[in-house]
Amino acid sequence: MKRRIGILTAGGDCPGLNAAIRGVAKAAYEMFDETEIVGFHDGYRGLIDGDMSEMKRSQFSGILTLGGTILGTSRTPFRNMRVIEDDNVDKVKSMKETYEKLKLDCLVTLGGNGTHKTANLLSEEGLNVIGLPKTIDNDIYGTDFAFGFHTAVDIATDVIDRIHTTAASHGRCMVIEIMGNKAGWLTLYSGLAGGADVLVLPEIPYDIEKIAEAVEKRARSKKAFSIIAVAEGAMDRKEAKMKRKERETYRLETGFTNISTRMAKELSALVGVEARAVIPGHMQRGGSPSAYDRVLSTQFGVHAATLIRDKTYGYTVALQGNQVVHNKLSDVAGIPKLVSPDDQMVDLARHMGITFGD
Ligand code: F6P
Repeated sequence: MKRRIGILTAGGDCPGLNAAIRGVAKAAYEMFDETEIVGFHDGYRGLIDGDMSEMKRSQFSGILTLGGTILGTSRTPFRNMRVIEDDNVDKVKSMKETYEKLKLDCLVTLGGNGTHKTANLLSEEGLNVIGLPKTIDNDIYGTDFAFGFHTAVDIATDVIDRIHTTAASHGRCMVIEIMGNKAGWLTLYSGLAGGADVLVLPEIPYDIEKIAEAVEKRARSKKAFSIIAVAEGAMDRKEAKMKRKERETYRLETGFTNISTRMAKELSALVGVEARAVIPGHMQRGGSPSAYDRVLSTQFGVHAATLIRDKTYGYTVALQGNQVVHNKLSDVAGIPKLVSPDDQMVDLARHMGITFGD
């Protein structure tokens, strides 16, 4: 049995991408008499431009623990895929031509929601596509976890732990901005793991007065410090009613481009405590994958190889319960998995006395 496999990583990087690439490749080399793997450079950009390398088996060794992606990545927004831009390139036509020209049996795409939408588009266009869900945001519908998420939870938790000790020493209110524009999973998990007092998520619009009350209550108690974990995409009740562009303009006009700085300033004024903002930013996406993510990436990669063996295309790999399964791309692509305000984890946090500022 011979398989010629194209593989690419698209969208924001995360730890575990190389482990997943390795999982696909090692399992494929074991499964098929002849395996050829073509690596596209920088995500869909490489597929559009035909920018690729014929990979050697040795390139998949020694990458299990390596952060980032050996293939490179880029963001080619799904909304522009069918748009002919200034370069006059018909992106969908070019991707199909590259695939045909290279005589691929299938294409494996590692990515988040945007990547899955394009993967589904290519599948509808007749290409044999298999998706693998990666993102530190964990916002891909149909899978309990995407790889990269748990590593980011570990990193963000470590940040909160470190801030905790200095916050306690100085009796300060520390506002820690966690990645996640639309989904608050990373804030929710790392905030719980780090023992934050306030969790602010994009899905639960906040009232700054409510957060101030929680901080004031702690300031009056023996615990003079407070830890607030806020998702980068969090918004107050007024902003939640605005369209995205309007919200961006409003933020620029108020002089703040990030949520944590604004919140720290507002809390200092409202409560009279010393509030500081901390933004770990892309650190949350960097470095070696955790043991959990190494295992999950490997599980997902091997599952993808079995789908290639069985010629089961048009699917994306997922974790449900403790089982690795696959969902139809057309069923899940483009559906973001957000934190429901009624989620059991939110409820649990409220039982712990954590406030969401709502
Ligand atoms: O999707 C992962 C993510 O890290 C989000 O949490 C964040 O909003 C976004 O990517 C940042 O993207 P970029 O690295 O392109 O600025």
